[in-house]
Amino acid sequence: MFLTRLVYASTIEQGFDLSTVEEIISSARKHNSALDVTGMLCFDRHYFLQCLEGSRTNVNAVYQRILNDKRHSSIIMLDYREVSARDFSHWSMGYIPSSSLTAPLYLRYSGASEFNPYHMSGESAYQLLLDLKNALPTIS
Ligand SMILES: Cc1cc2nc3c(=O)[nH]c(=O)nc-3n(C[C@H](O)[C@H](O)[C@H](O)COP(=O)(O)O)c2cc1C
Repeated sequence: MFLTRLVYASTIEQGFDLSTVEEIISSARKHNSALDVTGMLCFDRHYFLQCLEGSRTNVNAVYQRILNDKRHSSIIMLDYREVSARDFSHWSMGYIPSSSLTAPLYLRYSGASEFNPYHMSGESAYQLLLDLKNALPTIS
């Protein structure tokens, strides 16, 4: 089974709060563990950026569920490719609080000092997630 990685960005719909994030993470962890899908979700007040990795079939199944979720909109795939190894293998879905997203990080990976994943290349968005993972080794 091919190992693949998908990175997408989306816009948070109004009415979103911390309990919504908790619901998303909890159902993501339940479904992703069953499908051996791993990854990372990061967000601020406006946008989500998520990376999913796993078999081609399972990553696509999870992505299709996510596409139908009304809690976000303007979902755009930034990158999809076959990969030789996972980078988030310990996390059925790690999540990064917005406080970890800092201006120097935005500047490193995009042309502006505000977090806007729509302005990042797929590669930059993925590298940002990797940097965040490495900066926060204790979250799960
Ligand atoms: C930004 C975002 C990321 C999500 N990530 C995942 C995910 O990685 N895996 C997953 O199964 N569901 C994810 N979901 C939730 C799905 O869209 C869907 O609500 C959920 O899988 C339904 O499962 P449930 O009925 O068991 O809660 C995500 C939703 C949003 C808005």
